[in-house]
Amino acid sequence: MPYLDHAATTPMLPEAIAAMTGQLGRVGNPSSLHAPGRHARRVVEESREIIAAAFGARPSEVIFTSGGTEADNLAVKGLYWRGRAQGRNRVVASAVEHHAVLDAVHWLAEHEGAEVVLLPPDRHGRIAPETLAEALTDDTALVTVMWANNEVGTIQPVAELAELARAGGVPFHSDAVQAAGVLDVRLDGGGGPAPDALTISAHKLGGPLGVGALLLAKGVDPTPVLHGGGQERDVRSGTLDTPAIAGFAAAVEAATSRREESARRLAALRDDLIARVRAAVPDAVLNGDPVDRLPGNAHFAFPGCEGDALLMLLDAQGIACSTGSACSAGVAQPSHVLLAMGLASEQARGSLRFSLGHTSTPEDLTPLIEALPPAVERARRAGLT
Ligand SMILES: Cc1ncc(COP(=O)(O)O)c(C=O)c1O
Repeated sequence: MPYLDHAATTPMLPEAIAAMTGQLGRVGNPSSLHAPGRHARRVVEESREIIAAAFGARPSEVIFTSGGTEADNLAVKGLYWRGRAQGRNRVVASAVEHHAVLDAVHWLAEHEGAEVVLLPPDRHGRIAPETLAEALTDDTALVTVMWANNEVGTIQPVAELAELARAGGVPFHSDAVQAAGVLDVRLDGGGGPAPDALTISAHKLGGPLGVGALLLAKGVDPTPVLHGGGQERDVRSGTLDTPAIAGFAAAVEAATSRREESARRLAALRDDLIARVRAAVPDAVLNGDPVDRLPGNAHFAFPGCEGDALLMLLDAQGIACSTGSACSAGVAQPSHVLLAMGLASEQARGSLRFSLGHTSTPEDLTPLIEALPPAVERARRAGLT
């Protein structure tokens, strides 16, 4: 049955499963000096080289973490603390960040006295470079704007934003969790302006859950969040997860080697999905940038529906999708991303995200298109609670 929630997590690639399971039966802490330890270290370092090469970084610029959330927290809190030690107290973030960034930023305001400036997006969720230019001051500790949005799929003008931050002498971090493996994400900027720090996560690109990395340019040294054994340039302590890292590298290699071809295939499938949803439910509204969007993302508002109700009705038909936004303690909240884009609360609550990935096929679309109109009809009858 159709799995249309690849943005939440995507199945592991066969290459990643093989690489990871190949290590699971072995012993060895990569920090140990004996032969099993040295073997584990070799696996970790070869994986680091693969990941670095795929994302335009040097091996020493790859800091392994437990995933995207940890890498975001390290970048935001660590760069803020580093900046504050130099008299910089302002944090500039886009208003459409994932909670891993946004809540870290709010925490800094509440507990550390940071002055937070949230950049408002346009109606497609895009941050205009001029908006960042106005917010940058001499006392800005960091700028953080995601590469592509996890809810509506809008791709940000990262190069222009990075250039502005660089001109102002401010470290620029981008959460590239949704973009890595799909777009040309590079720490070296690919010849253009380079970001200082990038977050990536293995399970969004065909690797295992629970591992990710902060790609951190040389000379950018956030204050550590985790203290302990001093692993990873002393920036992120903790015993490295050799099997997961091996699986991560294999997924990165596989995903990035066929990236362009896979993006073209997904974009065509997504455009077909969008056209067929619009034909099946004519008043459905596509959210996010119509052009600069992730190839696997289709995000709609269905007026008059509760997104959660629609999700459960489709789930009952074996179709897995998402409202795109987190629900706190079981209570559906309108998404902060959609509200920041200017959607009314009712419209934001009636939203669903269909996200495609490497296992998606044209056959996935037919059950959705058949199930959607009756589900929308039923959800509308139930109305907004
Ligand atoms: C944009 C973005 N950032 C961060 C995360 C968190 O990553 P992880 O699940 O690896 O902690 C996610 C996952 O939903 C995401 O989509």
